[in-house]
Amino acid sequence: MCGIVGYIGFRRADKVAVSALKRLEYRGYDSWGVAVKSNDEIKVYKRVGAIGDVSQFELCEGTISIGHTRWATHGKPSDVNAHPHTDCNGKIAVVHNGIISNFQKLRESLEREGHVFKSETDTEVIPHLIEKFIDSGLNFENAVKETLKHLKGSYAFVALSSTEDKLVACRYKSPLILGIGDNEYFVASDVPAILEYTNRVVYLHDGDTVVLTRDSYEIYKDGKKVNREVEIVPWSVEQAEKGGFEHFMLKEIHETPKVIEDTLLEYVSDEIELDVGFTAGISDVIFVACGTSYHASLIGKYLIEKLAEIPVRVEYASEFNYHNAPLSRSLVIGITQSGETADTLEALRKAQKLGARTLAITNVLGSSVTRIADVILYTRAGPEICVAATKTFIAQLTVLYVIALRLSLLSRSEVNEILADLKLLPEKVRAILDMEDYIRKIAEELANYENMMYIGRGLGYPIALEGALKMKEISYIHAEGYPAGELKHGPFALLGKQTPVVACVLRDETYDTMLGNIKEVKARNSPVVALTDKNDSEAEKFVDYVIKVPSTNVLLTPVTYSVVLQLLAYYAARLRGCEIDRPRHLAKSVTVE
Ligand code: F6R
Repeated sequence: MCGIVGYIGFRRADKVAVSALKRLEYRGYDSWGVAVKSNDEIKVYKRVGAIGDVSQFELCEGTISIGHTRWATHGKPSDVNAHPHTDCNGKIAVVHNGIISNFQKLRESLEREGHVFKSETDTEVIPHLIEKFIDSGLNFENAVKETLKHLKGSYAFVALSSTEDKLVACRYKSPLILGIGDNEYFVASDVPAILEYTNRVVYLHDGDTVVLTRDSYEIYKDGKKVNREVEIVPWSVEQAEKGGFEHFMLKEIHETPKVIEDTLLEYVSDEIELDVGFTAGISDVIFVACGTSYHASLIGKYLIEKLAEIPVRVEYASEFNYHNAPLSRSLVIGITQSGETADTLEALRKAQKLGARTLAITNVLGSSVTRIADVILYTRAGPEICVAATKTFIAQLTVLYVIALRLSLLSRSEVNEILADLKLLPEKVRAILDMEDYIRKIAEELANYENMMYIGRGLGYPIALEGALKMKEISYIHAEGYPAGELKHGPFALLGKQTPVVACVLRDETYDTMLGNIKEVKARNSPVVALTDKNDSEAEKFVDYVIKVPSTNVLLTPVTYSVVLQLLAYYAARLRGCEIDRPRHLAKSVTVE
């Protein structure tokens, strides 16, 4: 996720911007940049790669600056696409975090009016719009406020003008804080950026615009001046990087609602806006993926088969390479959050050799997979620091819902109904995060065991597989996922007091059989934890612990149940004292076959 900073005060502003950006490195970035105002000029320095020493470049000794670490979303990582972006004459500079979803239309209309763009980014429309409104007679501050009326999507941005000693920063659905020093002010995406200078902050609200001069700040919302509370940050820099969370994993789980919103923003406005030309004439779909992405694929199979009635199969990418039948009418979908998993890249190459059309779903713009697949769909989860995938998995599911609904044979009103439920998912996930203490208590019970089973049926089966993977990789408890019906074909032999079973109970055609399977497990003395719908009062009668998950359309339960299972694994691992963000023997990006 991009990081933005802004400074106005008495210090050398290029140095403040660079040191603040270095404090935001944990957010992940591929390029960076700084702009400084001195006299009536703006100097910009921006580069791909790691943040350099300020002495490497000649800026100027100004005391107003903006800075940015970019994690590419629109336009590949490059010097030109790095922020800050400027207007035609270099008189306005902007750094931005978020997605301007209507940028294409804005850009086309600005280009018709003669504005010349340099980058491929969505951000660049902002300085050009500000320039346009200044040219029409508004001052800098009002031109920024006018610009806001034209932007759709999510943003936090800071604008700098060459002619005024002022910064204007705006927040809508992307984080932005204001730091208050003595005769100096800061804006930043996150607290660690400014903790070196001040611990007095204002957490800006959606829709806030803050205007900073050297000796004051004013916050506006809906055209009116507003007061916001100044808070004292009690954290060390290290704690602040994790937003006050003990681990990145927990922070990333808490980012899930925003990740769903951002990913939906990419593909859905009033309706689904996804060109599915890549499916024209296909006879079947094959998913290739590894680990958590493989589990997302199993859920994708269920959704596409159910909603679109297209035959789908799912293959471990590492095994697909031994596949040799022609695939001239198949669509092969590779899911890989990193875009670098060697087995998945190889499987896509192999699929192309066999004549298939290929599509990749990835979270990393410019990653290797984007140079292989014919079509790329991005998830908008932002960088994931913890090795175990959590929010990127949910983002993958979000894209799979969009694809399955777009291909669906359902009536328009049925699709709109599921779409409406999809848009409510962030709220449901927030309700799950409110249940964290309860989930932690159950995790504390499970943390004492060395073996566990996770079971589910239908859509509940891949949920169980992913829950077990999360548990084993971070807590080192041996956990296996099974189709609930398979237990009696062998794994029953392992049941007993020492082997708890986590049962994923869905309110669909699997419900009654699943309750029967739970009773069989209980008869063999295994403690049972059941995840079930909030309105279900039956399952709890047969189990030791029940986690009632906020109700949603049953097709969306992989999201809600998985967040619960991620928290369950997190708290079990925490109690066992495991190194949660970097589990032993594992890597975030597996670049060897
Ligand atoms: C588990 C996990 C791994 C990855 C797998 C594939 O939490 O993170 O199982 O899902 O290594 O990675 P990507 O999606 O980057 O191809």
